[in-house]
Amino acid sequence: MIPGRVGKSKSKTTFVCQNCGAQRPRWEGRCSECGSWNTIVEEVTAAPADSRSKNTLSNKPVSLEVAPLQTENAPRLSCTIKELDRVLGGGLVQGSFCLLGGEPGIGKSTLILQMAAGLAKSGSDVLYISAEESVPQTGQRAKRLGINHPKIKIGTENNLESICELAKLQRPAVLVVDSIQTVYLPDLSSAPGSVSQVRECAGQLMNLAKSYNISVIVIGHVTKDGNIAGPKVLEHLVDTVLSFEGDQNHHFRLLRALKNRFGATHELGIFQMGSEGLREVANPSEMFLEERTTDAVGSVVFCSMEGTRPLLCEVQALTVKSPLPNPRRTAIGFDLNRVHLLIAVLDRHANLNLSFSDIFVNVVGGLKLIEPAADLAVAAALISTESGHPVDSTSVYFGEIGLTGEIRAVPFIELRIREADKLGFSKFYVAASNKKHIFDLPKDLVSKIIWVKHIRDLIDGTRRPMKAAPRATPLTI
Ligand code: TYD
Ligand code: MG
Repeated sequence: MIPGRVGKSKSKTTFVCQNCGAQRPRWEGRCSECGSWNTIVEEVTAAPADSRSKNTLSNKPVSLEVAPLQTENAPRLSCTIKELDRVLGGGLVQGSFCLLGGEPGIGKSTLILQMAAGLAKSGSDVLYISAEESVPQTGQRAKRLGINHPKIKIGTENNLESICELAKLQRPAVLVVDSIQTVYLPDLSSAPGSVSQVRECAGQLMNLAKSYNISVIVIGHVTKDGNIAGPKVLEHLVDTVLSFEGDQNHHFRLLRALKNRFGATHELGIFQMGSEGLREVANPSEMFLEERTTDAVGSVVFCSMEGTRPLLCEVQALTVKSPLPNPRRTAIGFDLNRVHLLIAVLDRHANLNLSFSDIFVNVVGGLKLIEPAADLAVAAALISTESGHPVDSTSVYFGEIGLTGEIRAVPFIELRIREADKLGFSKFYVAASNKKHIFDLPKDLVSKIIWVKHIRDLIDGTRRPMKAAPRATPLTI
């Protein structure tokens, strides 16, 4: 029997790739859109009831309403959790649709429950619908987190139509749905979590958010490769995509804004998971450098910019002579292609031959560095491990490296230097071309900057890391 024909004349059978969401008229073994195998699944979708009349031109007057452009800031609800508010761009925008993605067990439900408590504290009514846990289970979690607020209403339901009805009736300021993969629309015959269910459910929630001015937060699971399960269209649809990351073996969790229609992206919020839930980390740089040993070979400190916040972290490198004909190159938290590039530049311009070495680069603490500004730190770590001599433990490195070995300017130089200074670092290796970006840095800090022009400036005559200022570049600003 063809499922599309079961008693519903207005439903349509399509074949949908569960990886990328592409729709095909017939089954294919390999998705011709994304190339993945065995991901095409037959799904039945409801056709719009009045699709024909919509397509026919009529003489009816148009009833489209237009309004003058409004430029005031959208009202925001405070979560009373500073890190969260900052990542959201200053609080949760009223009537916005926000998606929180993360691996199972990372702490999404905990974060959202704490967020709900914060929102309730600042006066917003919150309707928290869990489709994964029962009301007593959520209650247990709330008890553990010390949350008990009359403005938070908890419910458990999987049927999205019922959830929307309830929200329309109760009109909370915020609706939380945990999770988008476990709710379903009864009109669709495909299973909860399938591409059509996720897409349609998200569409309904979007309508609810915009028509009733309810801020909707949905939790989404991520697939093995780190993408939010469900079609990309989900990410296009929502206003904000937050990603909750972290290592199950470490206590800290990173909250990133991957997309934000109401604020900056790549803002980072840092939390620590403890026995009483998630705690904000006031000074993350200190935390990331906590276990660093001074004068370790192959260890260099870099100051990264995570959104608008400077963050110090440790970059490590290890090189060992390889027994393999094709030596191994591994990078954790840093782009492997950039490691290859740096190896080539060090070979050509710093006379550092790494062709026969296995090379490992690691960013400590599970951080992922996407900025090319980390090049200089990685290069310094490689020089240090290869020469067997530590870099000065009071120094910080930031700069992009070009193919001719030149060190290029990076943005936010003053912010980075101030953060490094706050944590007691006293030598800042910075691209000489960054001189023109120094405006109001105190003189004593400027005097601690070591301007570097070329990768050669990082090594002394014996190919060890520089201890003193290389070739004393004049400090003219
Ligand atoms: P949870 O929020 O259920 O994760 P998710 O919704 O992303 O699947 O968090 C689950 C983990 O967090 C679980 O392994 C236990 C841990 N946890 C704590 O360590 N402390 C706490 O106070 C809470 C509530 C959870
Ligand atoms: Mg959960």
